Amino acid sequence: MTDSDANKMWGGRFQMSPAEIMEQINASIDFDKRLARDDLAGSTAHAEMLAAVGIITNEDKSAIHKGLKQIGEEIESGKFQYSRALEDVHMNIESRLKELIGEPAGRLHTARSRNDQVATDFRLYVRGQLDAFDAGLTALQMALAVKAKANAATVMPGFTHLQPAQPVTFGHHLLAYVEMFARDRGRFQDARKRLNECPLGAAALAGTSFPIDRAQTAAALGFDRPTANSLDSVSDRDFVLETLAAATICAVHLSRMSEEIVLWTTPQFGFLKLSDRFTTGSSIMPQKRNPDAAELCRAKVGRIAGALNSLVIVMKGLPLAYSKDMQEDKEVAFDAFDSLTVAVAAMTGMVEDMQPQPDAMRKAAGYGYSTATDLADWLVRELKMPFRQAHHVTGSIVALAEKQGVDLEALSISDMRSVEPRITDAVFSVLSVENSVASRTSYAGTAPHNVEKSAGIWLAQLEKQRQTG
Ligand code: ARG
Repeated sequence: MTDSDANKMWGGRFQMSPAEIMEQINASIDFDKRLARDDLAGSTAHAEMLAAVGIITNEDKSAIHKGLKQIGEEIESGKFQYSRALEDVHMNIESRLKELIGEPAGRLHTARSRNDQVATDFRLYVRGQLDAFDAGLTALQMALAVKAKANAATVMPGFTHLQPAQPVTFGHHLLAYVEMFARDRGRFQDARKRLNECPLGAAALAGTSFPIDRAQTAAALGFDRPTANSLDSVSDRDFVLETLAAATICAVHLSRMSEEIVLWTTPQFGFLKLSDRFTTGSSIMPQKRNPDAAELCRAKVGRIAGALNSLVIVMKGLPLAYSKDMQEDKEVAFDAFDSLTVAVAAMTGMVEDMQPQPDAMRKAAGYGYSTATDLADWLVRELKMPFRQAHHVTGSIVALAEKQGVDLEALSISDMRSVEPRITDAVFSVLSVENSVASRTSYAGTAPHNVEKSAGIWLAQLEKQRQTG
């Protein structure tokens, strides 16, 4: 590729080659080559349609299809030579097509522009990512539901403010994340529905004078319909913003879960163990076992939210229709998609690998008078005390236990009666952590029976989705 070749891209008006720095700021090929497969699909569909409506001949179409197929093979095998002087993936492919088939290559760009071309390519690419996120999250939900079922009755502390609150089961805690990832999948599926309209044929911004069939290209590329306004078609990047917004929320969920893995694998908590496969050692401290994968999953949200922020700012205030600013949509989005992909896969691996430590969880579940609410509930149920009064009485009993340095269970009945004389021995039945969780049978509560049932429902549903998805 020489300078004079580069000028020919823009036809007769350009006589000077671009400044070196111009090429550097302008070229997107280093990153948009990721769109090559989608660009070939778009061009293949466009040529088919051009021939079907009689804008190009069938011979030209066949030559174009043959050339595009060969380019596809060159790209797959790594033989394709990308050139920066040709700016982007669209020009690189068209230029190679011309080398391969000559004049018919020049007819491919009839009734389209790079503006609708890039909008189409990127929609196809993002759609593929959305489908991959759905599959990855389904696998993660599966891993969580399997662990949850096995730990439906594993008692652990439940926290609020990171202070011991009430006992829960480990299975219940894991199913909380299954719900979050279900909502994430829902957001990705919603984004996919809105994304799935085809901009191809909007041309530069105004549509075209050629008798194109936009419904045909839309259907050929698996879109539900063509986009309805040519200006909007080339200037819209909502589909990227929406995907990044959903990815950010998903990354927040992964980050929260990661933080719990980091905390729970410390010797201080000791609730979980990760094997050598998901930990690293220290070069100086031989005893260390660091949860690096969880820490990195915790951190990925930074780049993903950063990508969303970056593109929101790029798009803000852009007049219609296409502006070159929009080329800045790709690098950040690619990075965010890669980050989410690896974080979901690593989290799935960690969930499969993690070994809960029921003894440590059980012991910690009793810390901090975690069954105090059960005592208050007993006073309400058995003594018909108003809850506010029961709360007060229980507070005094907890204070007494605290003074003696014992658990609620270990307090004598006479000590309890010194606070409320109507308390009977029957109260002890509600003070163990096992009885506490077993009593939480309200819909969506933590009772082992509930957890076992929800995990089973999730597993059946996820298995079905994996088969049909
Ligand atoms: N590389 C460009 C992008 O990513 C393709 C569209 C260029 N369009 C144009 N009118 N210069 O946005």
